[in-house]
Amino acid sequence: MKSQAEKIAMLTSYDASFTTRIEQAGADVILVGDSLGGVIHGQPTTLSVTMEDMLYHTRHVAHARQQALLIADLPYHSYETKQSALENSQRFVDTGADMVKLEGAGSVAESIEHIIQHGIPVCGHLGLLPQSVEELGGYKVQGREQAAAEKMIADAKLLESLGVDMIVLECIPSELGKTISASLSIPTIGIGAGLECDGQVLVLYDLLGITPGKLPKFVKNFLATASADKGENLIVNAIKDFVTAVKEKRFPTAAQSY
Ligand code: KIV
Repeated sequence: MKSQAEKIAMLTSYDASFTTRIEQAGADVILVGDSLGGVIHGQPTTLSVTMEDMLYHTRHVAHARQQALLIADLPYHSYETKQSALENSQRFVDTGADMVKLEGAGSVAESIEHIIQHGIPVCGHLGLLPQSVEELGGYKVQGREQAAAEKMIADAKLLESLGVDMIVLECIPSELGKTISASLSIPTIGIGAGLECDGQVLVLYDLLGITPGKLPKFVKNFLATASADKGENLIVNAIKDFVTAVKEKRFPTAAQSY
């Protein structure tokens, strides 16, 4: 899709019913994200999410999934050694995932290499790393300073050289999202990383406007503007609006970017 300049629409899902609706709306990729710690468990961070939690949700999403690529998030502390990284990735694959996602670059390079060497595709995650929120001092835009931006570009290239197939870029300046996307042959999927990423992802509950509390600037409630007049239910229409806006490069706008 990247080589054909077709934008990639990704959404999170945690259960079978929403997975069916997300596919019906035409999303390309479904992520069983550890964001379920917030939107399903009501926790302030993703740090309490366990492998058992992730496997439970991945199993139900995989059961409903037909076409979309299915990625499962390796949770906090599940890929610290190359052995645990491979073992947990294999559990996701056995449950029906096509690819696993993990956060970081250099410090997890050994784990990434080991997973890929054993034939399991990997999605990277750079920028704001929710599993490192304590070290980062909160949920803040990353890569604003030149040194941090250069480090992120180098990390993205490292991930590509390790054989990673896709990279999520979270909460970074649009210019940096553009530079990283242009310097890689693998696709980047932005969440608060500007319009020039090769695709976009949102947490489903944010897109539907049902996540409680204050939301980041990159979130857009697509349900608020969805119409019921196409013989389809409002939720499917809201997701379709997101997919179309991504494909037509109308999301994110400057209002949802840094
Ligand atoms: O856990 C998650 O849902 C994610 C997305 C926000 C990219 O990692």
